[in-house]
Amino acid sequence: MTFRVAIVGATGAVGTEFIRVLERRRFPVRELRLLASKRSAGTKLRFCGEELTVEELTPESFRGMDLALFSAGSAVSKQYREACVAAGCLMVDNSSAFRLEDGVPLVVPEVNPQEAAKALRARGGKGVIANPNCVTIIALVVLAPLHREAGIKRLVAATYQAASGAGHAAMVELQDSTRAYLEGRPYEPKVLPVPYAFNLFPHNSPWLAEQGYCEEELKLRRESHKILGDSSPRITATCVRVPVLRAHSEALNVEFARPLSVARAYEILRTSPGVKVFEDPARNRWPMPIDAAGRDSVLVGRIRVDQSQPNTLDLWVVGDQLLKGAALNAVQCAELALLGELRPNAD
Ligand code: A2P
Repeated sequence: MTFRVAIVGATGAVGTEFIRVLERRRFPVRELRLLASKRSAGTKLRFCGEELTVEELTPESFRGMDLALFSAGSAVSKQYREACVAAGCLMVDNSSAFRLEDGVPLVVPEVNPQEAAKALRARGGKGVIANPNCVTIIALVVLAPLHREAGIKRLVAATYQAASGAGHAAMVELQDSTRAYLEGRPYEPKVLPVPYAFNLFPHNSPWLAEQGYCEEELKLRRESHKILGDSSPRITATCVRVPVLRAHSEALNVEFARPLSVARAYEILRTSPGVKVFEDPARNRWPMPIDAAGRDSVLVGRIRVDQSQPNTLDLWVVGDQLLKGAALNAVQCAELALLGELRPNAD
């Protein structure tokens, strides 16, 4: 069986990774249609050795397509959902537009794979799978197996998030502003609200004054509850943007309902899908964004007892935001729904 696949936002940071991930996972693509705004219509991109031309996205773009991978922001996803689904095309959406909507599966394939097929209209689904928030995916690949073992009572997360989460233009801004800083030239931020080079700042998603959190921090809580199918873990987070290009790091402090030793946590994570224990304690080496960049697996290390209270562990987790945090997870969702199985990861 082969599929006609559309990529919405094909010129973006995640869109270009969709192309690479489809290619290297040998997703059975019969035809690939690359879609973006009018601005980049006509751009040439390569897929499996072939040069393809980016087309302007229109409601007709989905006619005859089987699968559409969306990463062009919530507004575009909302605007084109109807046209996509009405054309009988499965929508896998990387935006936050439908993640918490009832009946729309929110899927991390290693955690709740059974949900993916529920999106199919042939099975009474809505034709949409939502790809979770990047920080949430990266945390849950590691935390879900521990939750199954010992029950998470409370999670306190601190994140160190890369530029890629804010799109291709933010990655360029990090590079350009760093160059300008080193050359002593002034640089006016264009994409992010504050200077980025040699700086960090609380996450730039909207600040919700009533709650005291930014949106990103609430996504981790709400989306984790939906994916785990369990809203009992209490979750709080501080999300921070750091001057790293494409991998997110997370310090996770996790209180469990039942005792869980460090040794047992390592044992579980050594055999958990999508996770790699990655550390060399003797050399004081732990997972870093440059280790995770370009990798499929989420890296974990530095698992230790929190000495301040019982039944609590600290973990350090790093994952490629563009891959497991976005494009890879979305393609895996499509594999589960359309092929009924996951293809193997590269590492
Ligand atoms: P374009 O290159 O035409 O601007 P990123 O997440 O890296 O910022 O990328 C966003 C992606 O979404 C790009 O491919 C961008 O295309 C695309 N995009 C943004 N707005 C629209 C729109 N209104 N219609 C179609 N594609 C869009």
